[in-house]
Amino acid sequence: MEKKESNGEFYKIVSILFLIILFLLILIAYLSNVFDNHSQSHVENHKKEITKLIDKRTEPVGKINLASNPSIESKIKIAANHETKSGEQVYNAVCLACHSSGAAGAPITGNKDQWESRISEGIEHLYEQAINGVGVMPAKGGMPSLTDAEVKAAVDYMIEESN
Ligand code: HEC
Repeated sequence: MEKKESNGEFYKIVSILFLIILFLLILIAYLSNVFDNHSQSHVENHKKEITKLIDKRTEPVGKINLASNPSIESKIKIAANHETKSGEQVYNAVCLACHSSGAAGAPITGNKDQWESRISEGIEHLYEQAINGVGVMPAKGGMPSLTDAEVKAAVDYMIEESN
């Protein structure tokens, strides 16, 4: 009689322990799932942030320049319209961006000192540099739709202004 009772007690304890273990297992499974989801969305967020940063850093430099460049409209007009432009028109639309301020070390139009030595190298040399690009300056001032004659006219205009 006593033995049976203690047996009954024993099974009770075992089944309670079993239930507790089962409960803990379910709890662990649930929690690990929650944490996994959490870290997953954390990783996703991080990825998005990194992609944003990469996009920002690999943004074309031209975009920044153009946005703050007041001559953008005239640049577009020149690109869309194939009529031959005068040196002054080309200068104002394309070259002025760098050559009026000296951006990127460009010789400033009207500054005789900066132009003297360049002019002394000969006009053909200047034409060639302006058409093909030199140092930081892109070919044709970054406006490949200009004809060689238009670039030359712009160089003539710059030199006239800097003599
Ligand atoms: C993005 C800026 C930029 C634009 C736009 C630009 N230039 Fe320049 N240019 C420069 C810089 C910088 C130099 C100096 C390069 C050097 O000496 O290394 C230069 C130099 C020159 C020179 C002197 C080359 C020499 O042999 O010393 C000429 C001529 C010239 N540019 C003409 C033009 C003309 C014409 C245009 C427009 C069609 C133009 N540039 C547009 C930046 C620019």
